Amino acid sequence: MSKKVKKAVLPVAGFGTRFLPATKSSSKEMLPLVDKPLIHYAVEDAIEAGVEQIIFVTGRGKRAIEDYFDISFELEYHLKYQGKEDLIEELRKISDMADFVYIRQKEPKGLGHAVLRAKDVVGDEPFAVILADDVIEAQKSGTAQLVEVYNRYHCSVIGLEVVKPEDVSNYGIVAGKEVEKNLFRLETFVEKPKKEEAPGNTAIIGRYIFTPAIFDELQKTAVGRGGEIQLTDAIASLSKKEVIYGKVLEGNRFDCGSKMGFLKATVEFALKDKQINGEFKNYLHEVIGC
Ligand code: UTP
Repeated sequence: MSKKVKKAVLPVAGFGTRFLPATKSSSKEMLPLVDKPLIHYAVEDAIEAGVEQIIFVTGRGKRAIEDYFDISFELEYHLKYQGKEDLIEELRKISDMADFVYIRQKEPKGLGHAVLRAKDVVGDEPFAVILADDVIEAQKSGTAQLVEVYNRYHCSVIGLEVVKPEDVSNYGIVAGKEVEKNLFRLETFVEKPKKEEAPGNTAIIGRYIFTPAIFDELQKTAVGRGGEIQLTDAIASLSKKEVIYGKVLEGNRFDCGSKMGFLKATVEFALKDKQINGEFKNYLHEVIGC
């Protein structure tokens, strides 16, 4: 019987240069949408898919992530003193979400390199990769949508989105045969192509399920674009040996790795937050006058 997806790798070792200077001393993944950091949404995305172990690939200056998923005795003591027991319970839920494992990526040599760092902890199992920058709001989490496909085909499955043709150069772009609505058997993979050279406008977004065979391909992948080991290059070589599916994910994706995407997500999440949405709507009316 085929193994279930129980582990997720969350690479968080990037420098987050688009958010400098905020990311000079803290992590992009800790930027909050209202009151929860991006990384919390990513972990929830994994848990909904049945993941039990979260493997963070971290780097310098990322200690806040470890502290976030740990128990804070000083804070709990302080909250208890203030009679805020309900908050203590909320905070405990965060550290109880999963089993958290941390691996260091000494130098940020690319997403492919970060994923390869998790090889020994993942072992011979299928696993998810989740990029916390991509926050997906959907009935079913992005990872859960991919796991559904994995459970049917037992192949690697990549999360996709159809993007505007003028945006293709920001993404890994794929092409393939549509085997059912929104599900593709992928044949072509190009990392950040020029618009004229792109094989279409279906883009890879930050959700993946891989068979462990991806690690062999990553090990063989030469340094590519930008002096980094590109995950897309390893996926392309894996596709020559194994079938790879791509699923256009349902729901709304916010690219929180960019300022604009992050601001859009902040507004959308604030408008859905029961505690503040009324006042926030009134404020938006005041500011934009509509
Ligand atoms: P990005 O391409 O968004 O890079 O990485 P970045 O450094 O986070 O941000 P910018 O582009 O400089 O603003 C996508 C994901 O891969 C991780 C990042 O932490 C992010 O979650 N990553 C990237 C690593 O873990 N290691 C790397 O070497 C590169």
